[in-house]
Amino acid sequence: MDKLDDLVRADEGLVRREIFADPALYRQELERIFDRSWLFLAHDTQLPNPGDFLTTFMGEDPVLVIRQVDGSVAAFLNVCTHRGTLLCLAEEGNAKHFTCTYHGWTFGADGALVDVPREGDAYYGELDKASWGLKSIRVESYKGLYFGNFDPAAPTLSDFLGDFAWYLDAVFDPQPGGVEFLGGTMRMTLRCNWKIAAENIISDTYHVLAAHGLSVQICSAGRDMQIGVEEGSDLQGQTLSATVNGHGWNANLDGQGQYSLFYDPEPWLKFANASRPRYIEHLGEPRAWFVGSSIDGGLFPTFMFVPGFTFRIIHPKGPDECELWMWTVVEKNLPDELKREMVRFNARMLGTSGMFETDDCNNMENMSKALRGVANRKFDSHYAMGLGHERHDDPTFPGRVDQRISDNCFRGFYQRWQEFMRAESWAQIPLAPRRFTGDNTPLREASHG
Ligand code: FES
Ligand SMILES: [Fe+2]
Repeated sequence: MDKLDDLVRADEGLVRREIFADPALYRQELERIFDRSWLFLAHDTQLPNPGDFLTTFMGEDPVLVIRQVDGSVAAFLNVCTHRGTLLCLAEEGNAKHFTCTYHGWTFGADGALVDVPREGDAYYGELDKASWGLKSIRVESYKGLYFGNFDPAAPTLSDFLGDFAWYLDAVFDPQPGGVEFLGGTMRMTLRCNWKIAAENIISDTYHVLAAHGLSVQICSAGRDMQIGVEEGSDLQGQTLSATVNGHGWNANLDGQGQYSLFYDPEPWLKFANASRPRYIEHLGEPRAWFVGSSIDGGLFPTFMFVPGFTFRIIHPKGPDECELWMWTVVEKNLPDELKREMVRFNARMLGTSGMFETDDCNNMENMSKALRGVANRKFDSHYAMGLGHERHDDPTFPGRVDQRISDNCFRGFYQRWQEFMRAESWAQIPLAPRRFTGDNTPLREASHG
């Protein structure tokens, strides 16, 4: 049996713990997953003006993202082409030029090499500057979200998302005007493998019951609003987990659970109720009821969201370390006072020292800590909740679906991990058949993925 077959047995709900610790597998992930997936770079609202830039990572590669004078967004390796040192050391800003700190080569915001010290006398005027511009990265966008991909053979971003875009719209395009990223970036280093941080949000609603039980009690004291993950609540039929191409979506459809832990949910409910007709007009039923509901999910491999709580990317930093970069995301139409409240709430709950985040960090770091030896790596972890109960042909919801408390999306995530790790090229990585076109219009010949 191929080693990768043994490491992930999605049809049995088993994943060998070695994949969270092995340095050789980590190296293979950088080459086979991060070097050819669409990876989140920035949202439109983070780069409003020409020359606005931010620095980020794709896998462990440093990347510079810049708004161009024509309004497009370009991305480059954030590496000076002369000898390869980091070019831009700032996290964000606005610039017309980027000058390397080592020998002073200077690049324009379009990536062109525009100035070289001693070009005339030391280089005898013979340097072909046109061939030494910054290394450009393929960029595509969906609903204001920009993604980069190093692989020229990768399918379009639209194909990479597939029918998952149908869900994504409820978070990033709930009504005309869309969303904005607020409050700067919160950054945090975690001593755990990147997949442990990813699976905590792309699928793990189950942990809320135990890990956050006390935090939930404190925040919801005296109120009877449900967040939809309470033990014993009737979940079947009212909740959903859906997996498409490794992406994950776990949600309720009550339109209000997202606000249940807020200090004062009333103004939020008022806004959501007043906006509901616009959500319905824009998204249609039943999708419009995701807005305001408790949701956790994300895009394979590392772009994650819990609307109302956190939006984040997970940057891998070795087999047992990662960085979380987190933002607050709100509807643009939200009143200013509520936008400020959301930034504060996010910092309190799932920010760097938020009460929910610290619950999670302990558990996530302890998973990597328990893998420092050799014995534990040989055992499988259990991802079989709901196995065999998924539906592939739900008339309403695309993807493979189950009730919300389920390991359905874990299995989708790790099956995708295995498909990427096995494949020599993108030609060998399958894409789920689609029921919707790129703009979420149903296809006439519906096929179920
Ligand atoms: S390494 Fe950048 S100018 Fe030399
Ligand atoms: Fe959590």
